[in-house]
Amino acid sequence: MKKIGVIGAGTMGNGIAHVSALASFQVTLMDVKNQFIKKGMDSINNNMFRQVKKETITKGEMDNAIKRITTTLDMSQFADCDIVIEAASENPDIKASIFKQLDNLCKRDTILATNTSSISITKIAANTNRPEKVIGMHFMNPVPVMKLIEVIRGLLTDNDTAESVVALSEKLGKTPVECNDFPGFISNRILMPMINEAIFCLMEGVAEVEAIDKIMKLGMAHQMGPLMLADLIGLDVCLAIMEVLHNELGDSKYRPCPLLIKMVAAGTLGKKSGKGFYDYS
Ligand SMILES: NC(=O)c1ccc[n+]([C@@H]2O[C@H](COP(=O)([O-])OP(=O)(O)OC[C@H]3O[C@@H](n4cnc5c(N)ncnc54)[C@H](O)[C@@H]3O)[C@@H](O)[C@H]2O)c1
Repeated sequence: MKKIGVIGAGTMGNGIAHVSALASFQVTLMDVKNQFIKKGMDSINNNMFRQVKKETITKGEMDNAIKRITTTLDMSQFADCDIVIEAASENPDIKASIFKQLDNLCKRDTILATNTSSISITKIAANTNRPEKVIGMHFMNPVPVMKLIEVIRGLLTDNDTAESVVALSEKLGKTPVECNDFPGFISNRILMPMINEAIFCLMEGVAEVEAIDKIMKLGMAHQMGPLMLADLIGLDVCLAIMEVLHNELGDSKYRPCPLLIKMVAAGTLGKKSGKGFYDYS
């Protein structure tokens, strides 16, 4: 593999472009508006510069990596990519439309990967005529820091595709771990109900934001409390994942907390909007 396409320059997409370019791949990064691309490229510059200051990469490596990233608003630029990693918003209709278009314009052997947090890989693959080449490649946030990639096979994903994605993950300096296609996979099937429960605790007045996070940090040796983590992930993403778990598994224990629904409606999405459970302004 030489050329990687990344769809969506948001929280995850810019991180995926960042690690791919640093690992010497040619990267094409696409979003729907120039302002999102600019914001994504600003994040990549800032995050790589932080690595330069920490001396984990040199300024020369940073400059070369940035030069390997091409940005575009036009999906046809993915035609000659070896793999396209989709990291657009967590919305089944958006992903369905993207995969239909990718299937039409990419070369026959291009692998189509999705970074979805919870949507069925098998259902996403059904929008294409190459379900054997569709796979989940679930990076963790923040991408440049976190080691895990959860690799999820859809029902029809073939061995070659899974092996290529495992090998690519390792080239990106990550540790791939495979699991099967079930709502939320492993990571969000377990993490998101915990975050949702922390929001219920806040809504019911069991404790304040800081106390909930401190109890979980100090008591469970978590690096970050669940409410701060929800802010980092994005409350809209958390809600979308809870809705998938609730709808697909059909168990009321997965119902999204009303306070989470209300905060998303108000546009308080966490770090990316400047306000969530904490204030980032
Ligand atoms: N935020 C996390 O912690 C996290 C972790 C792992 C996986 N994910 C998953 O990664 C994906 C992206 O999440 P995010 O947090 O980066 O979201 P985000 O809201 O930060 O970014 C999404 C980006 O996709 C763009 N987009 C929307 N429709 C598009 C289209 N048709 N074509 C191209 N770009 C489009 C948006 O303009 C936006 O810039 C989601 O599927 C999410 O579930 C998120």
